[in-house]
Parts: sequence; C-alpha cells; structure tokens
Amino acid sequence: AALTQAAPAGAGVVDIAHRGSSGSAPENTVAAIEYAVDQRASFVEVDVQRSADGELVLIHDTTLARTTNVEEVFPDRAPWNVGDFTLAELKQLDAGTWFSEDFAGEPVPTLREGIEALGSTGLLLEFKAPELYPGIEAEIHEEVSSIPGYLDRALRTGRYVAQSFNIESMRTYHEIAPEVPVGLLYGSRPSDEVLVEASEWADQINPSQTVTDQALVDRVHELGMTISVYTLNTGQLMRRFIDLGVDGIITDYPGVLHDILRNS
Ligand code: G3P
Ligand code: CA
Repeated sequence: AALTQAAPAGAGVVDIAHRGSSGSAPENTVAAIEYAVDQRASFVEVDVQRSADGELVLIHDTTLARTTNVEEVFPDRAPWNVGDFTLAELKQLDAGTWFSEDFAGEPVPTLREGIEALGSTGLLLEFKAPELYPGIEAEIHEEVSSIPGYLDRALRTGRYVAQSFNIESMRTYHEIAPEVPVGLLYGSRPSDEVLVEASEWADQINPSQTVTDQALVDRVHELGMTISVYTLNTGQLMRRFIDLGVDGIITDYPGVLHDILRNS
C-alpha cells in the first residue's frame, strides 16, 4: 500500500526577523537587516516613521532616546520626537552603541536603505504610530513604488506585506494600494466581530503570543486569513506555536527558528 505522509509540523512556517535580527544587532538598522538575511530569515519586520523634512526612516520608538545617542548630540531638543528631527540630523546619531560597542556609529536607516539591504528577503513593514504622520500611507506607497524593480517583483513573489496596530491606517493603505497584502496587529484579543469585518479586506491577523490560542488560530484560518504571532524568542515557545498551526513567527532570533524549521 502506498504510504501517505502528512506534512511535518512547521512546514511552511514563515520565519520573520523582528526589527531585523534584533537579538544579534541593534534593532531597525541595516546591520540588523543584514544579520536577518545571513540567518536566512524569510522576512524582515521593521518599523517606519517620518522625519521632520518628510523622509521615511526605520525606528521603533516615537522618540529617539532609547536607541540613539540623541541626548548627547542634541541635549536641548527633549523629548526627542522622531518627527521633530530632519534626516540630516537623524544621520548624525549613533543607533548602534546602545546595543553594543561592536555597532558603534550604525546609523538610523531610511526605508529605502533598509529595502536595499534586503536582497530577496521579504519585508513586513510596520507603519508605526501613523496617527502622528498624516498622509504617511501615500508617501510609503510612493517611496516603495519608486525603488527600481522592487515593488512589482516583491508582490509577485509574496515578499512585501504592510502591517499596523492602527487599523484605520491599514484601511487607508489598502485603498491606496489594494494589491499589497495587509496585516492587522493586536496586543489584546480581537473579538469575533472584529475578525469577521477584517476578513473582508485584510490578509493577516498578527497578534501577540499572549492572546493567541488554538481557537484564535483556527478562527483566523476559517475566515481565510493567515496568522503570524509576535514575539517568540525561545525554541520552546516557537515549537508550541508551530504546533498550534500559526503561519508565521516573529522573532528576535530568526536563526534559532530556522534551525527548528529545518529539523522538523
Ligand atoms: O511585528 C510585531 C511587532 O513588531 C509589534 O510590536 O512593538 O515590536 O513593534 P513592536
Ligand atoms: Ca514592529
């Protein structure tokens, strides 16, 4: 009799490097993106915001204090909001030393510089606090569309996805660029009503691991969406969520996940 073989648990799970390989290098820098590529992540997740002069830059917090030396360079500019600094000012900052001396001088990258470092690795682009940056959705679309050869190819190969905690921003982006898959981030559990409504236009539900269980995974799948969970940093947690059937895992350690997936 012919042997039937079920797909192994974990087959097809997408390995997503959180803020780049942020366990190995300073988050949201080109160094962190390069580590993710080297560690064979399938996707890199980064956070995009806007400078005072309208440039799109990669950084997680809405202030510069935690991940740069801004307090030394611009002591009089508290509270050091990202959106109060021009790109030329942002480029004077060191976004690496806070993480390790090995990364001293690593700059705050632009979105374009981040994309250029990706090669063929996918991009999960989080619109971070877009309510602070009115109109950023159209600007992001314009920027990714202007990178020669990028967007069409990335979409054709399923390597560009947008996501946000700000659902209205994702709706706006979906209207501007309906060809781009969008993910909705949730730190608390979305109601069934919210999920059903989301399924009419969104592609992914990307919740915190703290609110993700078998029922949520199954319901998201029933509604025709995928689910990627954040942020899983131990092999034990990764295995637990692989067994629940998640589609993607967002991790600071994509190399750890890569090894688990390869051996599963
Ligand atoms: O991709 C999920 C995750 O990035 C959301 O949380 O705070 O790291 O941007 P945060
Ligand atoms: Ca993020």
